[in-house]
Parts: sequence; structure tokens; C-alpha cells
Amino acid sequence: MRHEAALSAAENEHTERVRAHIAAQIAASGGWISFERYMDLALYAPGLGYYNAGARKLGRGGDFTTAPEISALFGACVAQQCAEVFRELGGGSILEIGAGTGRLAVDVLTRLESLGGLPDRYFILDVSADLRDRQRALLHDKLPHLMGRVIWLEALPREPFDGVILANEVLDALPVVRFRWSGAGCDELGVAAAGSAGEEFTWASRPASTVLRESVAGLASAANGWDDGYVSETCVRMRHWAGSITAALGRGAALWFDYGLPRSQYYLAERHGGTLLCHFRHRTHEDPFRLPGLQDITAWVDFTTLAESCMASGCELAGFTTQAFFLAGLGIDREMHIMAGEDANRFARLANQAKQLMLPGEMGERFKAMAWTRGLDRELTGFALQDLRHTL
Ligand SMILES: C[S@@+](CC[C@H](N)C(=O)[O-])C[C@H]1O[C@@H](n2cnc3c(N)ncnc32)[C@H](O)[C@@H]1O
Repeated sequence: MRHEAALSAAENEHTERVRAHIAAQIAASGGWISFERYMDLALYAPGLGYYNAGARKLGRGGDFTTAPEISALFGACVAQQCAEVFRELGGGSILEIGAGTGRLAVDVLTRLESLGGLPDRYFILDVSADLRDRQRALLHDKLPHLMGRVIWLEALPREPFDGVILANEVLDALPVVRFRWSGAGCDELGVAAAGSAGEEFTWASRPASTVLRESVAGLASAANGWDDGYVSETCVRMRHWAGSITAALGRGAALWFDYGLPRSQYYLAERHGGTLLCHFRHRTHEDPFRLPGLQDITAWVDFTTLAESCMASGCELAGFTTQAFFLAGLGIDREMHIMAGEDANRFARLANQAKQLMLPGEMGERFKAMAWTRGLDRELTGFALQDLRHTL
């Protein structure tokens, strides 16, 4: 069954359109496209892809949730880290990459306003026109008096700016290259059409390019070798993309949050099926060919690749820690008391949210925070409690 019973007619029609579009691309490319291309089309094809069409995506009525969607405590702690950087710089702006529903922007601006330290500008750069509309609506609803400071960008600022760059769960949504390793060589796993009318998708391999094979051979030897048939992903795009984002920083800090691991743990021999995860209506599974255009497709982040990419921008690695230690360092318990005031019920709700953000079995350990700085002398408080830089 290709269709989920509970899909609406419009959803069925939409996923069929996306499927037909991808099938046409496969046919036009001689029967095979890379998985990176498939992921690009399924997530970002204009008017069709998951992030560029009407799916609700984030939040309770969507497919998955993120730290800012779980609790305003996340944004309050991020705001504390921004405030510290602004104090050091004597002010500054924020650039958020991939702002989702705009929730983090609302929470960060709200807390910075109460601290008396609003940024000069809050820039947002997001590829999704649909989400940009949601961000505008939410910010207008919650913080109408600050709309003059919020600016949506079409591209990275031409001149480096001083302040803070924020990116939460953007890297895991970047298209990845999938490969299968064997002692005899390396294949790139791509997508071919199957079914009588070519309307189904299936994995299909091709010998990897020399560049991919050499890069995967490097990963294999760093992992002390893999068994034949080892499958995983590598985010080739991140190697240039993350560095170009961090390069937009004049003086200040770039903060990356995502779920993932340093390379030595990512490519462990026992993780032989890769890290792809798909999200549809808060269910997680591993089949990227189901419901194209209606489900999110993600891969874990190799933080060593992120570090290599950002290092090329000339910034300094100022910290790498788990989300739990980042939030603890910035005083999540104090933020909880401030937000709840005398309201015991609110405090209980916030305590529950803090658990989701911090417990090891929830987001606390899987999610990491990484900071890159330029022209800052002080240590960042969010990274003072735990230093995982040596694991990269
Ligand atoms: C998983 S959502 C996370 C949203 C939000 N940061 C949060 O934590 O709730 C990924 C976000 O990144 C955006 N995005 C994906 N690729 C991007 C890119 N290359 N440049 C800018 N934004 C991107 C998506 O449109 C979406 O807003």
C-alpha cells in the first residue's frame, strides 16, 4: 500500500505529484539519481518538497518537534548566551538560519527584551517560503512592536556582521550522499524507479566517483575498517555550506545545535545501516521512499565534518557539549523559576519540558551544541560545564 489510510485527498494528491516529479527526474537522468538529489527533491523542490509546500511540519499538529517547539526554556537559555556575547561586543545582531515556525526567534527576542539587551537586528535566512510566512505571522502576533528589527534575508549578508549566528536542527535537514562499502570498492546508493508505471522508488547502486570513494575510504580507516555491506551517509554539502555561514560572522559567536556525533562515534562498525530517519505525524521510521513531500527526511550530523567546515572560515572552536550541559550552564533552573513566577502549575509544566530537553534518554545527550567565535576573548558560559572538543 503506497497510501496511508488517514491521508486526506489533498495529501494523497500532493504526494502523488511529488512522486511523479521525482520519477520524471529519474527518467530524465537515465534511470538513476543520487540519494542526495532524491532528498533535495523530496524536501525542497519548489512548490512540492516537504519544506516548500503546505505541510504543517513542526509542532503538535505536524510531524516532529524541536527544542524551541518543546519549551521556551530553550530560547531563554540561548538568549542568555547571546546577551553575554553582546555585552562583550557592546551590542550586535542575530542571524538565525532555518527558523522553522519562528518560535526560537520569539523566545530569544522576548528574553533579550526583558534583559534590556535587544539585538540591533534579528535576521532570518530560511529556504522555505511557506515557513517564512509562518515566522512572519507568529512574530507579528507575539511581538508586533519588534517587527521593525526582524529582517528576512534572501542570501547571507554581503558584509560580515557582529553578533550571533543561530542554527537549530538545520544541518540534519541537509541532503546527504549515501554509500555502501565493501573491501573491493565503494558504491554510491541512489534511487531508481520501479513498479509497472515507474511510480515506486527503490535503492540502486553505482560505483562511487573517485572523490567519494577516497573520502569514504578515509572514514573507513578512521573507524578501523567496516564489514562488507556497511551502509552510511556523508553530508558533502555541509563541508562548504556551514563554513560559508560561519564566515558571515565579523566578531561574535556562531552556535550550532543538532543531533549527531563526532566522526569516531558516528561511523562505528556496529552502526552499519546508516542514520537516516523520517518523520511523519510524530512517528519515526527509516524508509525515505514513503510519502515523498509529506514526510521529513533527516540524517544525523557528523560534528567533525561541521568542525572542519567552520574551521575553514577562520573562526575558533569555542565549545562542543551536549544540549543538557549547554542548558544547565546557562541556568535553565533559574529561567524556570523566572518564567513560572508564583504559578506552581506552570512550574510543573516547565519542569516536565526541561526533562525532555535535558534527560539522556530524551534530547539531552543526542543533541549537541557547538560554538565558533571570532574576536571574542571570553569563554562562553554555555560551554563551561562540559568540554567535548577533544572527541572531534
Ligand atoms: C528541522 S527544521 C528546524 C526549524 C527550527 N530551527 C526549529 O528548531 O524548530 C529545519 C529548518 O531549516 C530550514 N532550512 C533547510 N535547509 C536550509 C538552508 N539550506 N538554508 C536555510 N534554511 C534551511 C527549513 O526550511 C526549516 O525552517
